[in-house]
Amino acid sequence: MTLEKTCVFADTCKVAGQEEHCNFTCYPHAFMHGVENGSGGLWATTGVPNKYKAARLSNLPIEEANPKAYDIATKYVNSVLKFVIEKNAGLFLYSVPDENNPFGTGTGKTTTAVTILNHFIIERSRAYLRGEMELHENPAIFVKATELQNSFNAQFRGTREMQDNASIRYYKLKDAIKKTELVVLDDIATRNSRISEAFEDELYEILDYRSGQGKGATLFTSNVNMEELSKCLGDRIASRIAGMTVKVGFKGQDNRLDSLFK
Ligand SMILES: Nc1ncnc2c1ncn2[C@@H]1O[C@H](COP(=O)(O)OP(=O)(O)OP(=O)(O)O)[C@@H](O)[C@H]1O
Ligand SMILES: [Mg+2]
Repeated sequence: MTLEKTCVFADTCKVAGQEEHCNFTCYPHAFMHGVENGSGGLWATTGVPNKYKAARLSNLPIEEANPKAYDIATKYVNSVLKFVIEKNAGLFLYSVPDENNPFGTGTGKTTTAVTILNHFIIERSRAYLRGEMELHENPAIFVKATELQNSFNAQFRGTREMQDNASIRYYKLKDAIKKTELVVLDDIATRNSRISEAFEDELYEILDYRSGQGKGATLFTSNVNMEELSKCLGDRIASRIAGMTVKVGFKGQDNRLDSLFK
């Protein structure tokens, strides 16, 4: 039996002592992909949408239009454990609109955040499988900000039973976002809209906890810049985010339509 070409552990498979058995009988393979059809395991716990699952530095398409962002992503990925776990280096990946792309959409912000997340999962798992680091929880999650907001709001809708169930789901999600080493909070803030006071308190609590615990990093993507972020989320949250991230602007054309018709 030969190593799968796509296996991320191909060059370090010896850690399991099973060089030649990189399939469901191989522990790292089962750990990463699950035992059924390869769609389980640690990869499945991240919540990364399917279309971003293959995002890696080697296929990150932003180098030409956004060389600075590409440079930062490269440096981050090359020392991803250090940046997440030791430096708690957050990033605020935001749109810089121009006349051809007035909202700065489709410029590669989510792709870049997920690229970092995917490399983190690989390196974090390697460190665990080699016995260099412990692993008690899923190390990374991708959460759309609207999903968090909807999950919070669901607690106040429907029958009592529906509200109770929604509460359980919300607190599970909230706890995960607070404690996971690497969190991608995608599409934070919707232009020209202000979050409710109740949700503002929740989001502040989560970010305050994350920035205070000193053991992980948060990657935000947003179509609005820092100034506008204050209007959407309030000054308290905006300054929290400002304090826990390096700001990285993304400009250029909207590539979403292009990629749809490739
Ligand atoms: N510079 C680029 N060159 C080519 N394709 C790109 C580039 N940037 C992004 N893409 C592709 O465009 C699609 C959208 O990218 P992505 O979702 O990362 O954009 P985004 O900035 O997060 O957009 P939004 O602001 O709408 O959330 C993806 O398929 C991605 O691979
Ligand atoms: Mg996006």
